[in-house]
Amino acid sequence: MTTRIIGTGSALPEAVVTNDDLSKLVDTSDEWISSRTGIRERRLVNPDENTVSLGAKAAQKALEDAKVSPGEIDLILVATSSSEFYFPSVACQIQGILRLDNAVAMDVSAACSGFLFVLNTAHAYLKSGIYRRALLVGTDTLSHLINWEDRSTCVLFGDGAGACVVEQQETGVIDFLQQTDGSMGHVLTCSAATFASPISESAPFQSIYMDGQAVFKFAVKKVPACIRQLLERNCTEVDDIQWYLLHQANRRIIQSVAKRLGQPEEKFPINLDQYGNTSAASIPILVDELHKSGRLKRGDKCVLSGFGAGLTWGAALIEW
Ligand code: ACO
Repeated sequence: MTTRIIGTGSALPEAVVTNDDLSKLVDTSDEWISSRTGIRERRLVNPDENTVSLGAKAAQKALEDAKVSPGEIDLILVATSSSEFYFPSVACQIQGILRLDNAVAMDVSAACSGFLFVLNTAHAYLKSGIYRRALLVGTDTLSHLINWEDRSTCVLFGDGAGACVVEQQETGVIDFLQQTDGSMGHVLTCSAATFASPISESAPFQSIYMDGQAVFKFAVKKVPACIRQLLERNCTEVDDIQWYLLHQANRRIIQSVAKRLGQPEEKFPINLDQYGNTSAASIPILVDELHKSGRLKRGDKCVLSGFGAGLTWGAALIEW
C-alpha cells in the first residue's frame, strides 16, 4: 500500500500587488523584478485573512474535491512558517474550523520545503497503517514577516495556501528523498520576538533575511542532484517524468534545474509570475492548478521538489 492524492484545493487572497505597485514603495522596477525572478505580481492578505483562514479555505476545497466528509480524516498535517500563534498550531485551528473531529493535528516547520515534508510524514503514517486518510495543508502569509523597506526581499514573496487529501491506495507515492543542512541555516532566517524574563532580556523581531546568491547556488546545485538520486534509485529515467513540480521561488532557478536535468521547460509548470514565492503553499497550489485544469492525467509520473530555509530540500516521485 502507498499514499495517493485524491483531492486538491487552494486559496489565494484577492488583493493583487504588482511590481509597479512595489516600485512606489521601494527603489525597484518591474524590469528588475521580472528579469531576475520571473515574478510580475503577488497576492497579499488583507486584515480579515491570515495563515489559518487561507489554509482552512484550501482544505475545504480539497475535502470537496476528494468527496471526503470531515469525519473521515484521521490526520491533519500543516506546513507553515508564518502562524499568527505559537500555539495552538495552525493544524489544530483548521481542525476546529472545519470540525475534523476524528483527526489528530500538528504543524511541521520546514519553510519552503514544508509541503514535501508533510507529504513524506503522512506517507510514513499511512504506510505503517497508523492512519488511513490525511489532510495536508501548506499555508503561509510571509507578508507579515517581511520588511517592506527591504527591496532585496519584499519583491519576492506572496501569500497563499494549498491542500491535498491523501489516502492509502495501491498507487501514488513511489519514493521520497529528504535532506537538511542545519549548518547553512544562517543564509535564510526570520527570528521571533521574545519578552524579557526576570533573568534575561527581550529580543526584537527580525524580518526575513536572505543571502540571495547563496540560496540561488544551493537550489540549483542540490535540487537537480536530489532529483537524479531519487530517480536513479527507482530505475527511472528523467525522460519518463511527465511533470516536474518545483517550489516556485524564482524562474531562473527552475530554468537552471530543467537545463541541468536535460529536460524541456514545458515539463516545469510555473505560476510564480502571478503569486510570487508562497513558501510552503507553492507546490500544493501548483498541483491544484494542474489537477483542476485537467493537465495531470492518471498514471502520469511526477516529481515534486521543494527547497528552502533550514536549509531543507527534497523530492517525491509519485504516480498521479
Ligand atoms: N530592485 C532593484 N535593485 C535591487 C533589488 C530590487 N528589488 N534587490 C536588490 N537590488 C540590487 C542590490 O542592491 C544590488 O545593488 P548593488 O549592486 O548596487 O549593490 C544589485 O541589485 C544586485 O543585488 P544581488 O543581491 O546581487 O542580486 P541578484 O542578481 O543576486 O538577484 C535575487 C537577487 C533575485 C534575490 C537572486 O539572488 C535570487 O534569485 N536568489 C535566489 C533566492 C530566492 O529565490 N529566494 C526565494 C526565497 S528562498 C526560497 O524559497 C528557497
